[in-house]
Amino acid sequence: MEIYRPPACLLTPKKLSPDMAKSENLFLGMMSGTSLDGIDTVLIRCLTAGGIPELIATNFQPIDDQTKNDLLNLCNAPEVKIQTLGQLDTRMGHIFASAALNLLQSTKTKPQEISAIGCHGQTIYHAPNDSYPFTMQIGDPNLISELTGITTIADFRRRDIAAGGQGAPIAPLFHRLIFKDDKQSRVILNLGGIANITLLDPNRPEAAFDTGPANILMDYWVSKHKNKPYDHSGEWASSESVNKSLLKIFREENYFNLPQPKSTGRELFNASWLESKLADAALDLSPSAVQATLLELTASTISDAIKLLEPVDEILVCGGGAHNSSLLNRLQTLLTKSKITSTAVLGLNPDWVEATAFAWMAGETLAGRKLDTRSFTGAERSVYLGAIYQG
Ligand SMILES: Nc1ncnc2c1ncn2[C@@H]1O[C@H](COP(=O)(O)OP(=O)(O)OP(=O)(O)O)[C@@H](O)[C@H]1O
Ligand SMILES: [Mg+2]
Repeated sequence: MEIYRPPACLLTPKKLSPDMAKSENLFLGMMSGTSLDGIDTVLIRCLTAGGIPELIATNFQPIDDQTKNDLLNLCNAPEVKIQTLGQLDTRMGHIFASAALNLLQSTKTKPQEISAIGCHGQTIYHAPNDSYPFTMQIGDPNLISELTGITTIADFRRRDIAAGGQGAPIAPLFHRLIFKDDKQSRVILNLGGIANITLLDPNRPEAAFDTGPANILMDYWVSKHKNKPYDHSGEWASSESVNKSLLKIFREENYFNLPQPKSTGRELFNASWLESKLADAALDLSPSAVQATLLELTASTISDAIKLLEPVDEILVCGGGAHNSSLLNRLQTLLTKSKITSTAVLGLNPDWVEATAFAWMAGETLAGRKLDTRSFTGAERSVYLGAIYQG
Protein backbone atom coordinates (compact mmCIF):
# COMPACT_ATOMS: atom_id res chain seq x y z
CA MET A 1 0.00 0.00 0.00
CA GLU A 2 1.09 3.51 -0.74
CA ILE A 3 2.23 5.31 2.38
CA TYR A 4 1.15 8.84 3.05
CA ARG A 5 3.95 11.22 3.99
CA PRO A 6 3.13 14.82 4.78
CA PRO A 7 5.61 17.31 3.40
CA ALA A 8 8.31 18.68 5.68
CA CYS A 9 7.39 21.68 7.77
CA LEU A 10 6.53 24.94 6.12
CA LEU A 11 9.07 26.88 8.08
CA THR A 12 12.64 26.03 7.23
CA PRO A 13 13.94 23.85 10.04
CA LYS A 14 16.46 25.79 12.07
CA LYS A 15 19.78 24.49 13.31
CA LEU A 16 19.84 24.39 17.07
CA SER A 17 22.97 25.78 18.61
CA PRO A 18 23.85 24.48 22.10
CA ASP A 19 23.25 28.00 23.46
CA MET A 20 19.80 28.20 21.94
CA ALA A 21 18.80 24.85 23.39
CA LYS A 22 19.85 25.88 26.87
CA SER A 23 18.08 29.19 26.87
CA GLU A 24 14.93 28.30 24.95
CA ASN A 25 12.06 26.09 25.93
CA LEU A 26 12.02 23.20 23.50
CA PHE A 27 9.15 20.72 23.42
CA LEU A 28 8.22 17.71 21.35
CA GLY A 29 4.60 17.10 20.39
CA MET A 30 3.25 13.77 19.16
CA MET A 31 -0.11 12.97 17.64
CA SER A 32 -1.62 9.84 16.19
CA GLY A 33 -5.24 10.36 15.27
CA THR A 34 -8.33 8.34 14.40
CA SER A 35 -7.12 7.66 10.85
CA LEU A 36 -4.32 5.47 12.28
CA ASP A 37 -2.12 6.68 9.42
CA GLY A 38 0.97 7.38 11.52
CA ILE A 39 2.65 9.49 14.14
CA ASP A 40 3.19 13.19 13.56
CA THR A 41 6.06 14.53 15.68
CA VAL A 42 7.12 18.16 15.95
CA LEU A 43 9.88 20.04 17.72
CA ILE A 44 8.80 23.49 18.85
CA ARG A 45 10.27 26.38 20.76
CA CYS A 46 8.22 28.49 23.17
CA LEU A 47 9.98 31.82 23.54
CA THR A 48 7.57 33.29 26.06
CA ALA A 49 5.50 31.60 28.72
CA GLY A 50 2.14 30.68 27.18
CA GLY A 51 3.12 32.51 23.97
CA ILE A 52 2.97 31.50 20.33
CA PRO A 53 5.39 28.63 19.70
CA GLU A 54 7.75 28.37 16.77
CA LEU A 55 7.82 25.19 14.71
CA ILE A 56 11.41 24.00 14.29
CA ALA A 57 11.26 20.50 12.83
CA THR A 58 8.81 17.76 11.93
CA ASN A 59 8.70 14.05 11.33
CA PHE A 60 6.00 11.65 10.15
CA GLN A 61 6.36 7.97 10.99
CA PRO A 62 3.79 5.66 9.38
CA ILE A 63 2.21 2.99 11.57
CA ASP A 64 3.11 -0.42 10.13
CA ASP A 65 0.29 -2.54 8.70
CA GLN A 66 0.46 -5.16 11.46
CA THR A 67 0.15 -2.58 14.25
CA LYS A 68 -2.59 -0.76 12.36
CA ASN A 69 -4.59 -3.99 12.03
CA ASP A 70 -4.07 -4.81 15.69
CA LEU A 71 -5.25 -1.31 16.67
CA LEU A 72 -8.29 -1.61 14.41
CA ASN A 73 -9.15 -5.00 15.94
CA LEU A 74 -8.82 -3.49 19.39
CA CYS A 75 -11.06 -0.53 18.53
CA ASN A 76 -13.65 -2.79 16.92
CA ALA A 77 -13.78 -5.52 19.57
CA PRO A 78 -15.74 -4.51 22.64
CA GLU A 79 -14.79 -7.76 24.44
CA VAL A 80 -11.03 -7.36 24.09
CA LYS A 81 -8.58 -9.45 26.12
CA ILE A 82 -6.83 -7.42 28.81
CA GLN A 83 -3.53 -8.94 27.70
CA THR A 84 -4.07 -7.70 24.12
CA LEU A 85 -4.82 -4.21 25.39
CA GLY A 86 -1.80 -4.19 27.72
CA GLN A 87 0.55 -5.41 25.03
CA LEU A 88 -0.59 -2.80 22.51
CA ASP A 89 -0.24 -0.07 25.13
CA THR A 90 3.40 -1.12 25.55
CA ARG A 91 3.96 -1.53 21.80
CA MET A 92 2.58 1.95 21.08
CA GLY A 93 4.80 3.30 23.88
CA HIS A 94 7.83 1.92 22.02
CA ILE A 95 6.58 3.34 18.71
CA PHE A 96 6.03 6.83 20.16
CA ALA A 97 9.44 6.74 21.86
CA SER A 98 11.18 5.79 18.63
CA ALA A 99 9.38 8.58 16.75
CA ALA A 100 10.62 11.06 19.36
CA LEU A 101 14.17 9.73 19.25
CA ASN A 102 14.20 9.83 15.43
CA LEU A 103 13.33 13.52 15.42
CA LEU A 104 15.99 14.24 18.05
CA GLN A 105 18.55 12.40 15.96
CA SER A 106 17.66 14.16 12.71
CA THR A 107 17.85 17.58 14.40
CA LYS A 108 20.95 16.67 16.43
CA THR A 109 19.13 17.60 19.62
CA LYS A 110 19.96 15.96 22.94
CA PRO A 111 17.17 14.62 25.17
CA GLN A 112 18.34 16.88 28.02
CA GLU A 113 17.68 19.93 25.80
CA ILE A 114 13.98 19.08 25.61
CA SER A 115 11.77 20.37 28.42
CA ALA A 116 9.01 17.83 27.81
CA ILE A 117 7.21 15.64 25.31
CA GLY A 118 3.47 16.15 24.90
CA CYS A 119 2.13 12.84 23.64
CA HIS A 120 -1.53 12.56 22.80
CA GLY A 121 -1.37 8.77 22.55
CA GLN A 122 -3.59 6.64 20.35
CA THR A 123 -7.30 6.81 21.08
CA ILE A 124 -8.83 3.36 21.15
CA TYR A 125 -12.20 4.30 22.65
CA HIS A 126 -13.98 7.57 23.29
CA ALA A 127 -17.23 7.38 25.26
CA PRO A 128 -17.90 10.76 26.88
CA ASN A 129 -21.65 10.11 27.13
CA ASP A 130 -21.42 6.65 28.69
CA SER A 131 -23.13 6.04 32.05
CA TYR A 132 -19.54 6.11 33.34
CA PRO A 133 -17.98 8.52 30.84
CA PHE A 134 -14.45 7.71 29.68
CA THR A 135 -11.92 8.13 26.92
CA MET A 136 -8.93 5.86 26.45
CA GLN A 137 -5.59 6.66 24.81
CA ILE A 138 -2.75 4.13 24.73
CA GLY A 139 1.04 4.36 24.27
CA ASP A 140 2.48 3.97 27.76
CA PRO A 141 3.98 7.35 28.79
CA ASN A 142 6.10 5.61 31.48
CA LEU A 143 7.89 3.84 28.67
CA ILE A 144 8.25 6.98 26.53
CA SER A 145 9.79 8.79 29.47
CA GLU A 146 12.06 5.85 30.30
CA LEU A 147 13.25 5.25 26.73
CA THR A 148 13.82 8.92 25.84
CA GLY A 149 14.88 10.21 29.26
CA ILE A 150 12.51 13.14 28.66
CA THR A 151 9.65 14.20 30.93
CA THR A 152 6.50 13.08 29.15
CA ILE A 153 3.06 14.60 29.49
CA ALA A 154 0.16 12.41 28.39
CA ASP A 155 -3.45 11.57 29.18
CA PHE A 156 -4.67 15.05 28.16
CA ARG A 157 -8.34 14.26 27.86
CA ARG A 158 -9.48 12.46 30.98
CA ARG A 159 -9.25 15.39 33.39
CA ASP A 160 -11.59 17.30 31.12
CA ILE A 161 -14.09 14.43 31.26
CA ALA A 162 -13.68 14.36 35.04
CA ALA A 163 -14.69 18.05 35.03
CA GLY A 164 -17.87 17.25 33.11
CA GLY A 165 -16.49 17.89 29.61
CA GLN A 166 -16.46 15.75 26.47
CA GLY A 167 -12.67 15.38 26.65
CA ALA A 168 -12.71 16.58 23.03
CA PRO A 169 -12.05 18.57 20.98
CA ILE A 170 -9.12 20.13 22.85
CA ALA A 171 -6.87 21.28 19.99
CA PRO A 172 -9.16 24.38 19.79
CA LEU A 173 -7.27 25.65 22.86
CA PHE A 174 -4.28 26.02 20.58
CA HIS A 175 -6.36 27.30 17.66
CA ARG A 176 -7.54 30.09 19.98
CA LEU A 177 -3.95 31.04 20.78
CA ILE A 178 -2.62 31.20 17.25
CA PHE A 179 -5.54 31.73 14.88
CA LYS A 180 -7.86 34.12 16.73
CA ASP A 181 -8.06 37.53 15.08
CA ASP A 182 -9.46 40.77 16.48
CA LYS A 183 -11.30 41.59 13.23
CA GLN A 184 -11.95 38.44 11.20
CA SER A 185 -14.42 35.76 12.15
CA ARG A 186 -12.73 32.39 11.56
CA VAL A 187 -13.57 28.72 11.61
CA ILE A 188 -10.67 26.29 11.93
CA LEU A 189 -11.68 23.05 10.24
CA ASN A 190 -9.61 19.99 11.13
CA LEU A 191 -10.05 17.16 8.64
CA GLY A 192 -8.58 14.10 10.31
CA GLY A 193 -10.40 10.79 10.69
CA ILE A 194 -13.14 12.86 12.26
CA ALA A 195 -13.90 16.49 11.33
CA ASN A 196 -13.97 19.14 14.02
CA ILE A 197 -14.61 22.87 13.82
CA THR A 198 -13.56 25.74 16.05
CA LEU A 199 -15.33 29.10 15.87
CA LEU A 200 -13.09 32.05 16.72
CA ASP A 201 -14.90 35.36 16.49
CA PRO A 202 -13.92 38.64 18.13
CA ASN A 203 -17.56 39.46 18.89
CA ARG A 204 -19.13 36.12 19.76
CA PRO A 205 -18.48 33.30 22.22
CA GLU A 206 -16.12 30.61 20.96
CA ALA A 207 -17.38 27.15 20.14
CA ALA A 208 -15.97 23.83 18.94
CA PHE A 209 -17.27 20.35 18.24
CA ASP A 210 -16.87 17.27 16.07
CA THR A 211 -19.17 17.45 13.06
CA GLY A 212 -18.84 13.72 12.20
CA PRO A 213 -16.63 11.77 9.79
CA ALA A 214 -13.97 13.50 7.71
CA ASN A 215 -11.76 10.77 6.21
CA ILE A 216 -12.46 7.73 8.34
CA LEU A 217 -15.22 6.18 6.20
CA MET A 218 -13.68 7.21 2.87
CA ASP A 219 -10.36 5.63 3.98
CA TYR A 220 -12.09 2.38 4.90
CA TRP A 221 -13.94 2.21 1.60
CA VAL A 222 -10.95 2.96 -0.65
CA SER A 223 -8.83 0.52 1.29
CA LYS A 224 -11.47 -2.21 0.89
CA HIS A 225 -11.96 -1.69 -2.85
CA LYS A 226 -8.66 -0.29 -4.09
CA ASN A 227 -6.19 -1.41 -1.44
CA LYS A 228 -5.06 2.19 -0.96
CA PRO A 229 -4.84 3.99 2.40
CA TYR A 230 -6.77 7.01 1.11
CA ASP A 231 -8.43 8.46 -1.98
CA HIS A 232 -5.74 10.76 -3.33
CA SER A 233 -7.23 14.28 -3.75
CA GLY A 234 -10.67 12.63 -3.68
CA GLU A 235 -10.15 11.63 -7.33
CA TRP A 236 -12.03 8.34 -7.05
CA ALA A 237 -14.95 10.01 -5.27
CA SER A 238 -15.21 12.71 -7.91
CA SER A 239 -15.30 10.14 -10.74
CA GLU A 240 -18.95 9.32 -9.92
CA SER A 241 -22.20 11.01 -8.97
CA VAL A 242 -23.56 11.17 -5.45
CA ASN A 243 -26.46 8.83 -4.72
CA LYS A 244 -29.14 10.93 -3.02
CA SER A 245 -31.04 8.00 -1.47
CA LEU A 246 -27.88 6.67 0.15
CA LEU A 247 -26.88 10.14 1.31
CA LYS A 248 -30.27 10.53 2.98
CA ILE A 249 -29.79 7.24 4.84
CA PHE A 250 -26.29 8.26 5.95
CA ARG A 251 -27.55 11.62 7.16
CA GLU A 252 -30.30 10.07 9.30
CA GLU A 253 -27.58 9.24 11.84
CA ASN A 254 -28.67 10.78 15.11
CA TYR A 255 -25.19 12.19 15.92
CA PHE A 256 -25.60 14.91 13.27
CA ASN A 257 -28.63 16.35 15.11
CA LEU A 258 -27.16 16.33 18.61
CA PRO A 259 -26.59 19.73 20.19
CA GLN A 260 -23.04 20.83 21.06
CA PRO A 261 -20.87 20.18 22.96
CA LYS A 262 -20.39 16.87 21.24
CA SER A 263 -17.56 14.62 20.14
CA THR A 264 -17.31 11.30 18.37
CA GLY A 265 -14.89 8.75 16.97
CA ARG A 266 -14.30 5.31 15.56
CA GLU A 267 -16.69 3.74 18.08
CA LEU A 268 -19.55 5.16 16.00
CA PHE A 269 -18.24 5.93 12.52
CA ASN A 270 -16.53 2.69 11.49
CA ALA A 271 -16.74 -0.14 8.98
CA SER A 272 -19.81 -1.67 10.69
CA TRP A 273 -21.64 1.66 10.58
CA LEU A 274 -21.07 1.98 6.85
CA GLU A 275 -21.78 -1.66 6.01
CA SER A 276 -25.04 -1.63 7.98
CA LYS A 277 -26.23 1.57 6.26
CA LEU A 278 -25.40 0.02 2.88
CA ALA A 279 -27.34 -3.11 3.84
CA ASP A 280 -30.32 -0.95 4.92
CA ALA A 281 -30.19 0.96 1.65
CA ALA A 282 -30.15 -2.26 -0.43
CA LEU A 283 -29.14 -0.27 -3.53
CA ASP A 284 -27.17 -1.69 -6.39
CA LEU A 285 -24.35 0.87 -6.41
CA SER A 286 -20.82 0.80 -7.76
CA PRO A 287 -18.06 1.20 -5.13
CA SER A 288 -17.16 4.56 -6.71
CA ALA A 289 -20.74 5.85 -6.25
CA VAL A 290 -20.49 4.94 -2.55
CA GLN A 291 -17.19 6.83 -2.32
CA ALA A 292 -18.76 9.86 -4.01
CA THR A 293 -21.61 9.73 -1.48
CA LEU A 294 -19.21 9.40 1.45
CA LEU A 295 -17.35 12.52 0.32
CA GLU A 296 -20.68 14.31 0.07
CA LEU A 297 -21.60 13.10 3.57
CA THR A 298 -18.40 14.66 4.94
CA ALA A 299 -18.85 17.90 2.99
CA SER A 300 -22.56 18.35 3.69
CA THR A 301 -22.39 17.64 7.44
CA ILE A 302 -19.48 20.07 7.78
CA SER A 303 -21.21 22.75 5.74
CA ASP A 304 -24.47 22.35 7.70
CA ALA A 305 -22.54 22.77 10.96
CA ILE A 306 -20.66 25.84 9.70
CA LYS A 307 -23.81 27.46 8.28
CA LEU A 308 -25.23 27.51 11.79
CA LEU A 309 -22.23 29.65 12.80
CA GLU A 310 -22.40 32.15 9.93
CA PRO A 311 -21.35 34.87 9.32
CA VAL A 312 -17.85 33.44 9.06
CA ASP A 313 -15.21 35.36 7.06
CA GLU A 314 -12.60 32.66 6.69
CA ILE A 315 -12.39 28.89 7.00
CA LEU A 316 -8.86 27.66 7.65
CA VAL A 317 -8.41 23.95 7.02
CA CYS A 318 -5.88 21.68 8.72
CA GLY A 319 -5.31 17.91 9.01
CA GLY A 320 -4.62 15.44 6.20
CA GLY A 321 -7.96 16.21 4.52
CA ALA A 322 -6.51 19.61 3.59
CA HIS A 323 -4.88 17.69 0.70
CA ASN A 324 -8.22 16.44 -0.59
CA SER A 325 -8.89 19.06 -3.27
CA SER A 326 -12.21 17.48 -4.30
CA LEU A 327 -13.48 17.79 -0.73
CA LEU A 328 -12.26 21.38 -0.41
CA ASN A 329 -13.84 22.36 -3.74
CA ARG A 330 -17.13 20.82 -2.69
CA LEU A 331 -16.99 22.67 0.64
CA GLN A 332 -16.33 25.95 -1.13
CA THR A 333 -19.35 25.34 -3.39
CA LEU A 334 -21.56 24.68 -0.36
CA LEU A 335 -20.17 27.51 1.75
CA THR A 336 -20.28 30.47 -0.61
CA LYS A 337 -20.15 33.11 2.11
CA SER A 338 -16.71 32.15 3.50
CA LYS A 339 -13.27 31.98 1.93
CA ILE A 340 -11.70 28.54 2.39
CA THR A 341 -7.92 28.37 2.68
CA SER A 342 -5.55 26.41 4.88
CA THR A 343 -3.72 27.29 8.09
CA ALA A 344 -0.61 27.65 5.89
CA VAL A 345 -1.74 31.20 5.10
CA LEU A 346 -1.14 32.00 8.77
CA GLY A 347 2.25 30.29 8.76
CA LEU A 348 1.45 26.82 10.08
CA ASN A 349 1.44 23.91 7.66
CA PRO A 350 -1.92 22.08 8.06
CA ASP A 351 -0.18 18.73 8.63
CA TRP A 352 1.42 19.83 11.90
CA VAL A 353 -1.27 21.81 13.73
CA GLU A 354 -2.43 18.98 16.00
CA ALA A 355 1.04 17.75 17.02
CA THR A 356 2.11 21.35 17.65
CA ALA A 357 -0.98 21.78 19.85
CA PHE A 358 0.12 18.92 22.10
CA ALA A 359 3.71 20.18 22.30
CA TRP A 360 2.35 23.57 23.42
CA MET A 361 -0.09 21.92 25.83
CA ALA A 362 2.78 20.02 27.44
CA GLY A 363 4.42 23.38 28.18
CA GLU A 364 1.23 24.66 29.78
CA THR A 365 0.90 21.57 31.96
CA LEU A 366 4.55 21.64 32.96
CA ALA A 367 4.21 25.31 33.92
CA GLY A 368 1.23 24.40 36.11
CA ARG A 369 -1.33 26.38 34.12
CA LYS A 370 -4.96 25.38 33.95
CA LEU A 371 -6.62 25.52 30.53
CA ASP A 372 -10.11 26.78 29.86
CA THR A 373 -11.90 24.19 27.74
CA ARG A 374 -15.41 25.21 28.84
CA SER A 375 -16.67 26.61 25.54
CA PHE A 376 -15.21 23.69 23.55
CA THR A 377 -15.86 20.55 25.56
CA GLY A 378 -18.53 21.71 27.99
CA ALA A 379 -16.28 21.23 31.05
CA GLU A 380 -17.54 22.97 34.15
CA ARG A 381 -14.27 24.69 35.00
CA SER A 382 -10.72 25.27 33.79
CA VAL A 383 -8.57 22.21 34.39
CA TYR A 384 -4.98 20.94 34.37
CA LEU A 385 -4.80 18.81 31.25
CA GLY A 386 -2.37 15.89 31.21
CA ALA A 387 -0.31 13.95 33.71
CA ILE A 388 3.43 14.39 34.15
CA TYR A 389 5.80 11.41 33.90
CA GLN A 390 9.18 12.75 35.02
CA GLY A 391 12.15 12.05 32.76
N1 LIG B 1 -3.37 13.79 -0.72
C1 LIG B 1 -4.44 13.42 -0.02
N2 LIG B 1 -5.64 13.31 -0.61
C2 LIG B 1 -6.73 12.95 0.07
N3 LIG B 1 -6.73 12.67 1.38
C3 LIG B 1 -5.56 12.77 2.05
C4 LIG B 1 -4.37 13.16 1.39
N4 LIG B 1 -3.38 13.17 2.30
C5 LIG B 1 -3.93 12.81 3.49
N5 LIG B 1 -5.24 12.56 3.35
C6 LIG B 1 -6.20 12.10 4.37
O1 LIG B 1 -5.78 12.57 5.63
C7 LIG B 1 -5.77 11.48 6.58
C8 LIG B 1 -4.77 11.73 7.66
O2 LIG B 1 -5.08 12.95 8.26
P1 LIG B 1 -4.68 13.26 9.76
O3 LIG B 1 -3.33 12.71 10.03
O4 LIG B 1 -4.91 14.71 9.97
O5 LIG B 1 -5.79 12.43 10.53
P2 LIG B 1 -5.75 11.80 11.97
O6 LIG B 1 -4.43 11.18 12.20
O7 LIG B 1 -6.94 10.91 12.05
O8 LIG B 1 -5.92 13.03 12.93
P3 LIG B 1 -7.12 13.49 13.91
O9 LIG B 1 -6.56 13.46 15.25
O10 LIG B 1 -7.42 14.89 13.51
O11 LIG B 1 -8.29 12.56 13.79
C9 LIG B 1 -5.47 10.27 5.73
O12 LIG B 1 -5.92 9.09 6.36
C10 LIG B 1 -6.22 10.60 4.44
O13 LIG B 1 -7.56 10.23 4.53
MG1 LIG C 1 -2.65 11.30 11.38
